[in-house]
Amino acid sequence: MGLKLVVLVGSVRSDRQGIKAARYVEKSLAARGHEVAIVDPVAVQLPLLDRMYKEYEKGKAPAVLEELATLYRAADGFVVVSGEYNHSIPPALSNLLDHFLEEYFFRPSAIVCYSTGGFGGVRAAMQLRAMLCELGMPSISSLFPIPKIQNAVDDSGMALDQALDRRFGRFAAELEWYADALREARRKGVPY
Ligand SMILES: Cc1cc2nc3c(=O)[nH]c(=O)nc-3n(C[C@H](O)[C@H](O)[C@H](O)COP(=O)(O)O)c2cc1C
Repeated sequence: MGLKLVVLVGSVRSDRQGIKAARYVEKSLAARGHEVAIVDPVAVQLPLLDRMYKEYEKGKAPAVLEELATLYRAADGFVVVSGEYNHSIPPALSNLLDHFLEEYFFRPSAIVCYSTGGFGGVRAAMQLRAMLCELGMPSISSLFPIPKIQNAVDDSGMALDQALDRRFGRFAAELEWYADALREARRKGVPY
């Protein structure tokens, strides 16, 4: 039941840890048979929000937004990788998310949060959950927090802490259930 899943990276710092979490998620979901794309705002050089994608005339949006819109429309679900800045959502993640709206609708999201401290970014995750609902991609119940990420995942996205892999299976299975169920439901139609 291969799904199309998009991993959204919410940090653009040159020394960022978040990309490691995104690579871990990409590898782990690909190993479960899914088609996974990472959206890295650094790699695609996403600008600070000027106009939302939908505010451009049809065919006039910058290429980067057209490409992301196409990717998102084809997606069955999103994994949102969030650090925690001042107990809240990193601005780079808000910026990435804010460019789109309808393209997310009726798809589930799943939150992977992390920090260099012991709480794994869960305070930001609680706020992110409310934001994802507003964006039309409500989050699944389970979170996947990564405390002390600098010791948990290497640069290539391999787990250094084996507990990560043990926890990931249950988290991924829940996302798969919702993504599969909503894919079937979208085939029958959406309310608006
Ligand atoms: C502006 C800023 C605010 C931070 N605030 C928090 C915080 O509230 N809680 C926390 O656990 N870590 C905090 N940290 C530490 C981050 O967990 C750590 O720097 C992490 O690597 C940030 O993610 P990134 O490297 O992907 O940008 C903060 C870091 C920055 C740069």
